Amino acid sequence: MLDKLIRKRGGRQEAEAPDPADAGSRGVPGHVAIIMDGNGRWAKKRALPRIAGHHEGMKTVRKITREANRLGVKVLTVYAFSTENWKRPKPEVEFLMKLPDEFLGTYLPELIEQNVRVEMIGDYESLPPHTKRAIRRAMDETASNDGLILNFAMNYGSRAELAGAVKEIARSVKEGTVRPEEINEAMIAEALMTAHLPEPDLLIRTSGEVRLSNFMLWQLAYTELWFTDTLWPDFGEADLREAIDVYRARNRRYGGIGKEEVK
Ligand code: IPE
Ligand code: IPE
Ligand code: MG
Repeated sequence: MLDKLIRKRGGRQEAEAPDPADAGSRGVPGHVAIIMDGNGRWAKKRALPRIAGHHEGMKTVRKITREANRLGVKVLTVYAFSTENWKRPKPEVEFLMKLPDEFLGTYLPELIEQNVRVEMIGDYESLPPHTKRAIRRAMDETASNDGLILNFAMNYGSRAELAGAVKEIARSVKEGTVRPEEINEAMIAEALMTAHLPEPDLLIRTSGEVRLSNFMLWQLAYTELWFTDTLWPDFGEADLREAIDVYRARNRRYGGIGKEEVK
């Protein structure tokens, strides 16, 4: 599991308490999460190797980070590698593990200039040393930035994260610091790798797949979902703005009733 230092860094930023009567138009989502999918198909359409799609997808991360920052998004989480992606052919996995070096090697100065803070969620310890080094360096060098948080979900799996949270709470019970009847939703949220972040307001998945693929199962409970057929390397600023416009017009009820219903 990712060490506490990484995931608890910066302390918890409280999300605004959702108002059940919060209907109609609202501001820009504070936390946007993206399942960046379709790199392989993008490459296949051009008769290129899959890794060419991943390389192109990296440029999209840069573009979308810049636009999200410009629009006033506070946290951008991008699903870059899942705990299941190790099943892929070794050369593809090796390429994907080199992408953080390349992405951060190329764009770190620009991210620093934009006041972006780089973070990650996922199993950091099991990453190859060179991948860890690149991520660690980017996190260290951007630690004092207080603009957009660019949060990479790298070697991330929601079920592994939840299993880790259960272990942590079980240990507290065993040590006698927590009684089983005291376990509540806040305690579980606090034991997740996203403890310091607000829950995602908007989830985007590209490439036409309509599933979560083991991504933030707990955190997405009340997130607005938006799917597009566009492949990740083709995803542009206008697509992000479209998703945000749709989000802004949605009626988030959190199980309550809409504002217009409240008399
Ligand atoms: C998403 O693109 C990137 C990763 C999962 C690492 P894919 O590689 O899954 O692309 P498709 O889904 O095969 O087109
Ligand atoms: C989800 O995409 C993981 C990432 C985007 C990193 P996948 O391409 O791995 O998901 P499935 O296999 O289509 O569900
Ligand atoms: Mg895919």
